[in-house]
Amino acid sequence: MLELTDVVAGYGSTTIVQGISLGVRRGECSVLVGPNGHGKTTLLRAISGLIKVRSGSIAFDGSDITRERAEKLVERGLIHMPQGDLVFPDMTVEENLVLGAFTKSAAKNAKQRMEEVYDIFPRLLERRTQRARTLSGGERRMLAIGRGLMGDGKLIMIDEPSLGLAPVIVDEVYSQVRRIIDTGMTVLLVEENVTRAQSLADSIHLVENGEIVRSADEAGLLDEQALRETYLGMTE
Ligand SMILES: Nc1ncnc2c1ncn2[C@@H]1O[C@H](COP(=O)(O)OP(=O)(O)OP(=O)(O)O)[C@@H](O)[C@H]1O
Ligand SMILES: [Mg+2]
Repeated sequence: MLELTDVVAGYGSTTIVQGISLGVRRGECSVLVGPNGHGKTTLLRAISGLIKVRSGSIAFDGSDITRERAEKLVERGLIHMPQGDLVFPDMTVEENLVLGAFTKSAAKNAKQRMEEVYDIFPRLLERRTQRARTLSGGERRMLAIGRGLMGDGKLIMIDEPSLGLAPVIVDEVYSQVRRIIDTGMTVLLVEENVTRAQSLADSIHLVENGEIVRSADEAGLLDEQALRETYLGMTE
C-alpha cells in the first residue's frame, strides 16, 4: 500500500530523515517507535506532502506520489492525523466530524462513516452537540482520530495517539485504534511506548537519527538490547 525508498527530508538546510526505506502492506499496522526528536513526525510530513521529499521515492496504492501535493494525497485516500489535538474548539463534535469528510468521495459516504465513527467512539456520540473546547483531553484525541476516519482513507497515519493522556484513557484510545485496524484499514502509527506499539503492530521499526535502525516483522520481536541502546544510549 505504501512503499518508501531511501526517503530524505528535512527543514531548511537541516536534513532530518536520512534515507528511510519502509513498506506498509495493505490491511496491516506498521508502527514507528523511537526517542523524541529523531524524525518520526518529519517522516510522516514528508509522506503526506507537507514537506518536500529531497531524494528517494514514495509509492502509494500503486502510484508514485513523491512530488504529489498534500491536498491531492488526501483525495487519493492518504490521511495524516498530526501530533496534538487539532480540532476546531468552537465547533461541536459533529461539526468537527463533518469537516473531516471534505473531499468529494468522503462527502458522499459521510453519513455511513459517521455511524462507524460513533460505533468506535461511543463517547463522541454522547457528546455530539457539545463544543470541542469542552471535551476532555482524551475525548479531544478521539475526536481528532474520528475526524481523520471521516476522510474515507485507504491508509491512515496516526502520530502518537496516546501522547499526554492518563493511562486509563490511553487504554481506551488503544482499544479504539485496534478496532480501526480490525476494520481492515491500513495504519502507520507513531508511538513512543514500545510495549503498546508491540501489542498492535504487524511490523515495528525503530527510528534513530532519521534512520530505521531495526525492524521486526512480528509483534514482540524487537530485541531489548536494541531498545536499550536507542533509548538509554547504552551499548555493550
Ligand atoms: N518546522 C521545523 N523546522 C525546523 N526544524 C524542525 C521543524 N520541525 C521539527 N524540526 C526538528 O526536526 C527534528 C525531528 O523532529 P520530529 O518532530 O520529526 O521528531 P519526532 O521523532 O517526531 O519527535 P517526538 O517523539 O518528540 O514527536 C527535531 O530536531 C526538531 O527540532
Ligand atoms: Mg513527533
